[in-house]
Amino acid sequence: MKDDQVKELLGRTVAERFVQSGMKLGLGTGSTAVWAIRRIGELLQEGVIDSIVGVATSSQSEVEAHAAGIALRTMNDPEMVAGLDLTIDGADEVDAHGNLTKGGGGALLIEKVVAYASKRVIIIVGQDKLVNHLGLRFPIPVEVVPLARMPVVRTIEELGCEVKLRTAVRKMGAVITDNGNIILDVSLPAPTDIAEFERVLNNIPGVVENGVFSRLAAEIWYGTSEGQVLQFAPRR
Ligand code: A5P
Repeated sequence: MKDDQVKELLGRTVAERFVQSGMKLGLGTGSTAVWAIRRIGELLQEGVIDSIVGVATSSQSEVEAHAAGIALRTMNDPEMVAGLDLTIDGADEVDAHGNLTKGGGGALLIEKVVAYASKRVIIIVGQDKLVNHLGLRFPIPVEVVPLARMPVVRTIEELGCEVKLRTAVRKMGAVITDNGNIILDVSLPAPTDIAEFERVLNNIPGVVENGVFSRLAAEIWYGTSEGQVLQFAPRR
């Protein structure tokens, strides 16, 4: 199976297995999570499930949810005060302890808000995203207020990391997030205490959020090129 087919299989499988009528859902972002949104839309249309409301984690998932006929709310909606029942999302990397890196699609801030406000989080990834250490192969995205770009770059470089401003495709200059910020992609020089790194990044003035999810007890499901969907057992 090709990567794209694995993504589709993962999204469709977890939607069928875990989404139930009446749920308040967090709708993830990316080329894997989008298949869960689409399948939820089909299940609604087929009458298999009903009374679903969702919170989009990005402009991408908002557009997809509209196309799928999923009613949307925001996290500030009184209906959402008790939290979400389930969030389904992708990730860029997952380490042996179940720590995640997210934000390859630039949506890390709202993804983090939504995930930590969910009773259950299901993360779906291709097997190639299971790694020993985060941030060595795939950089850690950091969302930064535009005016703080240079001080934040300097501070992170002083930590020994390589920092790249994420630039846009078919638009000159920086990627601007759904929240009006920029993204710095940060590569670690060596394996590090990732929970501590998450805290250190967020303590830098001008950093809004970073893509390390170290406190999330998510269930991780991965897909193989043989077409299996398997649960990953992290060493917590
Ligand atoms: C979006 O900002 C990300 O966190 C995605 O969930 C992550 O990049 C995985 O995306 P793909 O499923 O497209 O690889």
